[in-house]
Amino acid sequence: MNNKVDILLGLQWGDEGKGKLVDVLTPRYDIIARFQGGPNAGHTLEFEGTKHVLHTIPSGIFHAHVTNLVGNGVVIDPVVFAKEIDALVAKQVPVRDRLLISRKAHVIVPTHRLLDRASEASKGEAKIGSTLKGIGPSYMDKTGRNGLRIGDLLDADFAARYEALKQKHLHLLKGFEAYFTLDEAELATMESEFMHGVEGIRQLTIVDSEHYINKALKSGKRILAEGAQGSMLDIDFGTYPYVTSSNTVAAGACTGLGIAPNRVGEVIGIFKAYTTRVGSGPFPTELNDAIGENMRKVGNEFGSTTGRARRCGWIDLPAMRYACMINGVTQLIMMKADVLSQFDSIEVCTHYKTAEGTTADLPFDIQASKVQPVYESLKGWEVDLTAMRQPEDLPAELTAYVHYLEAALEVPITVVSVGPDRTQTIIREKAIA
Ligand code: GDP
Ligand code: IMO
Ligand code: MG
Repeated sequence: MNNKVDILLGLQWGDEGKGKLVDVLTPRYDIIARFQGGPNAGHTLEFEGTKHVLHTIPSGIFHAHVTNLVGNGVVIDPVVFAKEIDALVAKQVPVRDRLLISRKAHVIVPTHRLLDRASEASKGEAKIGSTLKGIGPSYMDKTGRNGLRIGDLLDADFAARYEALKQKHLHLLKGFEAYFTLDEAELATMESEFMHGVEGIRQLTIVDSEHYINKALKSGKRILAEGAQGSMLDIDFGTYPYVTSSNTVAAGACTGLGIAPNRVGEVIGIFKAYTTRVGSGPFPTELNDAIGENMRKVGNEFGSTTGRARRCGWIDLPAMRYACMINGVTQLIMMKADVLSQFDSIEVCTHYKTAEGTTADLPFDIQASKVQPVYESLKGWEVDLTAMRQPEDLPAELTAYVHYLEAALEVPITVVSVGPDRTQTIIREKAIA
């Protein structure tokens, strides 16, 4: 039997709730695989009264029967990785038995993090708002053909190759002297943590993941690819240059895992019932008022990786339609419906007004000076949803909101999430897997 790989990915600017839903869906799969991004991600899971935040490790790690694969498209910081493993081991999760790493995944070295800082400092007001985890510089080294891969950590000449890359980076850092001063002592500490992390990775199971995953498919294993970030942060299709440095869209799962396009099954697009964004960049439906402040407070919209306040606003259908198109989304999952319970009316951005007229498509540039959102008002439900578990429990106004979005996006919404806990999940249709 030749199975397909399902993909779960974010349709907005990240933090849609991917970690929670991957954990909920994991019992339906044998393998959970990350295909891009790195420690810039923060995926939150909550069950049995405990909250867990994962950065590089796939969100299936808490399930005993499942293999968690970090694919070739991911960039790994051995320091963050070691901390994540230690935290899981401290919670009695036998993480090493459940985890595989691709030999072809790239490594984030300490000077990538310094370059990230220096680059951001040099941009001043125009900074990306990066998580400063070294993501951009490590993907630059990958495409620039200078990077180090996990497989290289096992090579006898690793130390020399690391040193050569570090020298190259120190040279680049000199170009940022006006904005960034190298702290030698800090770098020494970072390097010692790095070497400790590298030692930890050498003890893990490193595999030729493209072979592993294709053999698994052939033998009938069920695989879910877990996206990081969101479609509007994609390097090609996001709000460039305010994006991350990888392909967060469905195509990224093919290159980031080594699966052929005709092996892709369901594409599950996950979105919040409203919109958030952390970091800089355009956000047409952003609310800089009491409503936005309320969403942030009730939705606890603070970054899982950096703790920064997330910008909040209404749902943006031109952006969502675009994301559904690029990804070939076959089913939708709506998160955080409970956060909208506080509003008597819910606004939906259906179109943008531009200098050329009104459009339902996503223009090249969606800066506030170029586009104005056009809204339609729907009635709010104003009912606490957090104890609801069945589709028939949902208030009529929320069901109407779901039907409205399904019609506008032409994709069914199969799951509605009403709280951060694993159990606060309403399955509307058994379409998945
Ligand atoms: P990810 O990066 O896509 O995995 O999302 P994050 O974990 O960064 O952010 C999602 C946040 O919303 C986390 O704090 C989750 O615990 C929380 N969350 C997820 N689903 C729901 C929901 O349905 N309702 C509420 N109130 N919180 C949720
Ligand atoms: P998850 O997987 C939300 C944002 C940063 C910044 C831009 C570039 O948890 O959804 P980078 O560190 O990649 O150089 O940052 O992208 N960003 C995220 N925003 N969720 C994420 O991941 C993000 N990863 C990066 O805030 O604006
Ligand atoms: Mg997150």
